[in-house]
Amino acid sequence: MCGIVGYIGARSAQDVVVKGLKRLEYRGYDSAGVAVIRDALKVTKCKGKVAKLEAMLSKSDKAEIGIGHTRWATHGEPNDVNSHPHTSTNGKIAVVHNGIIENYTALKVQLQSQGHVFYSETDTEIMAKLIEQFYKDSEVLSLEKAVQLATQQVNGTYGLAVLHEDFPDLMVVARRGSPLLLGVGDDEMIVASDASAVAEYTDKVVYLDDNETAVIRRDSYEVQDNSYVLMDKKVHELQMSLEEIEKGGYPFFMLKEIFEQPKTIGDSLRGRIQPEEGKIVLGGLTEVMDKLLGARRIIIAACGTSWHSGLVAEYLFEDLAQIPVEVEYASEFRYKNPLIYPDDIVIVISQSGETADTLAALREAKSKGATVLGVVNVVGSTIARETDAGVYLHTGPEIGVASTKAFTGQVTVLTMMAIQLAQYRETITAKKADELIKALSQIPIKIQEILDQHEEIEHIAQLFTYAPNFLYLGRSYSFPVALEGALKLKEISYIHAEGYPAAEMKHGPIALIDEMMPVLVISATNHTNDKMVSNIEEVKARKGRIIAVVNPSHEEVKNLAEFVIEIPETLDELSPLLSVIPLQLLSYYIAVNRGCDVDQPRNLAKSVTVE
Ligand code: G6P
Repeated sequence: MCGIVGYIGARSAQDVVVKGLKRLEYRGYDSAGVAVIRDALKVTKCKGKVAKLEAMLSKSDKAEIGIGHTRWATHGEPNDVNSHPHTSTNGKIAVVHNGIIENYTALKVQLQSQGHVFYSETDTEIMAKLIEQFYKDSEVLSLEKAVQLATQQVNGTYGLAVLHEDFPDLMVVARRGSPLLLGVGDDEMIVASDASAVAEYTDKVVYLDDNETAVIRRDSYEVQDNSYVLMDKKVHELQMSLEEIEKGGYPFFMLKEIFEQPKTIGDSLRGRIQPEEGKIVLGGLTEVMDKLLGARRIIIAACGTSWHSGLVAEYLFEDLAQIPVEVEYASEFRYKNPLIYPDDIVIVISQSGETADTLAALREAKSKGATVLGVVNVVGSTIARETDAGVYLHTGPEIGVASTKAFTGQVTVLTMMAIQLAQYRETITAKKADELIKALSQIPIKIQEILDQHEEIEHIAQLFTYAPNFLYLGRSYSFPVALEGALKLKEISYIHAEGYPAAEMKHGPIALIDEMMPVLVISATNHTNDKMVSNIEEVKARKGRIIAVVNPSHEEVKNLAEFVIEIPETLDELSPLLSVIPLQLLSYYIAVNRGCDVDQPRNLAKSVTVE
């Protein structure tokens, strides 16, 4: 949520920053801006996407230090004035910020009484003025000290990058609650909200932790904590190739990511399942296995699509490992004073590893003594670092705002966890474990078979492009998939859609069904097939238009449906990994037909770092 980039080195800072902002645009795209220093501080910013900003900038800017921002608006509507960078009253200091300053109103009044003039409605502008004020008052006259003093005044979260015209050879950055990392290059440094803006220049990164401030010069960096103690920061090796963060010939990242799934699931499974031996090895859990085995229950906390993966996991853990599971919206979990016991295991699921509500849930659970595990995609992210243990997805960067390959990656990892736990707890037979592991290893090939049907799905999408509503129904393992299918459609095509347990439909949504209502039914689990047939009959009797995602053997469902998308047979427990694929494609094609910006849907951001 909001992306920030900063550069210092021999290249054109403006070019590096703008390129970085394009990579971070999935974090927000309400407005964009850059500030560079070449003799004087120069700020350029505007409402709209980075491409618009780029068109406003001079092509040959040679400044060697700059910062930039791409915004997801919180305080103040998206317009030119509210765009970042914001500047100090004397125009010498520029600030870009990701996060929320909660006490900005009180600070603004105080700063106004000291003569500062405000132009925007943002919380961020107070940071520029506050830093200026401390800088003026400071006896040591160091920008870094002024930034530290200013951050001590604010409540809330920030990832900050600050420039001062009088110091064209350094940049100061600070972090609390919003991600920030430093790419260490050869006589150049790049700071960014995430590694995709850095990968092109270096594979050496330093992750800033909360309450740290760093002074960055082209050939050195110094990180301090909030007691001004110099930190010895580990330099990590970044495992990210340029290929992974480019569209690679696809019109949208979302389509690329959908089509990547046979590979990404293969990557998630690699080295972790041993089909020949019927074994699963999840190295990340070894140390906590005793706790996991002794757990009285598992609580899962997540948001959005990750919450849907959590719902799939609820079925898996209860069904296979016979452990009670509660799945919570992370945002609700934190504020309901949850009952957590030391023998509880809390699993937080997050693609980005930065979602503020999920992070808050993690911290709440830890403070109450639970062991917290992470199922995270982004390596080195805050959630990954703060959990006691966990399993990475290994699905590579996901850039389309609507999550696709991260969902299947999460479900893959959670499935492996459930099977492994069931094996240890002896709640499934060796034969069943064997079947599950073998079937799991076949999932990538089966996904490819579904992707190969994309033209049929595209055709169905054409027929329903202008439907005002959609209903998605599923039972058992297919119920969370129905929720996920509806979410995908809402997010990127702006069609109202609801996911429902198929049997629950008759307690309300059935009133919506008429000959205009597309009803997507997911009939992918064999053990609920008969019941599903009855529910589909109920839809048919009310003339709903039935699109069925169906196992080949479900003849009755196929006969009832107007449109049929067949998915290969697998075990019921693994069916979400297959049944979600046609729903992703259907949403994608409908959104494209409607002329929507699939990768950057309105009002959304990929990494939601505000509560
Ligand atoms: C945002 C994204 C969703 C994502 C959710 C949770 O809403 O648009 O795609 O599912 O955040 O994000 P996380 O990174 O924690 O999985």
